[in-house]
Amino acid sequence: MELPEVDRIRITSIVDNFVDNLLRDQGPALRRPRQARSYERCLCAEHGLAECVQSERRGETFPLLFDFGATPLVYLHNLKLLLDDYRLDLASIRTLVLSHGHWDHYGGLLAFLQEKRQALPREAHLYAGEDAFLARWSVSGKDGRRDMGALDEKAIADFEIGVVRVKEPRLLAGQALLSGEIQRKTSYEVSSPASRVLRDGQDIQDDLPGEQALVYHLRGKGLVVLTACGHAGVVNTVLHAREVTGVEKVHAIIGGFHLSGAPEERIRKTVEDVAALDPDFVVPMHCTGIETIDALSERLPRKVIYNSAGTRYELIAD
Ligand SMILES: [Fe+2]
Repeated sequence: MELPEVDRIRITSIVDNFVDNLLRDQGPALRRPRQARSYERCLCAEHGLAECVQSERRGETFPLLFDFGATPLVYLHNLKLLLDDYRLDLASIRTLVLSHGHWDHYGGLLAFLQEKRQALPREAHLYAGEDAFLARWSVSGKDGRRDMGALDEKAIADFEIGVVRVKEPRLLAGQALLSGEIQRKTSYEVSSPASRVLRDGQDIQDDLPGEQALVYHLRGKGLVVLTACGHAGVVNTVLHAREVTGVEKVHAIIGGFHLSGAPEERIRKTVEDVAALDPDFVVPMHCTGIETIDALSERLPRKVIYNSAGTRYELIAD
């Protein structure tokens, strides 16, 4: 599938596991301007992810919201501050994307629609994988069964937001690619048997086949891959993006790599294969895990950028 080249991509991190008000600007990463030191003006961190992505092609801007944090409290708080700081205009955002049906990515969505639906265009849509609304839980010897909840599709429809289910790769507004279901190719990027889902009445292991990554082709620079939680594996996700688009060069890998608490061997293999993909830079977020961020920083010196909620990435074509 041909993915048209874009001229620029601006990614604003709305929610992440990390907030660090003192980080320096680094390459494309521009830190949020310093604020008065009060809670009202400080961003919050939580175990979750949310971003605003604005791409531009031939003068046409295409903004979208990618995931919605873990809690209404943090998502709405951070969003309000960043809408002000960066003058983001909700009236221009027709496209909402949910990467997958885990609470740390959809947690702020219904409260956002409750508060801001009127500010969005009437024809706003939510794109999500086919399994995004299924009931999920985990089972382990240590903690027993833990409910992970489910996003209520009808509640979204009640806000007159059309839901578009995505299975195959899908082009959005001629600028962004939703990955479709990501093929698992590496031997070591495997799902946890502790994750369960109710599908067609069956209690089965949850491989999250419907998780969507977002992919852009930045002119002269290569692919920009946003992984969300990265349950398919960051290497599988980038290999998939390359195969679908036919573009080899990887400019940036940005998002959660889901390796917090993972076995050392898996982290080592992932880091080696990420290095072999030869990205110009990597932004590990959310569930990547400190061990993996350390290992990536060591293996790819100067290519790893630490994220903080509020950081804006300005990616510009050659
Ligand atoms: Fe996640």
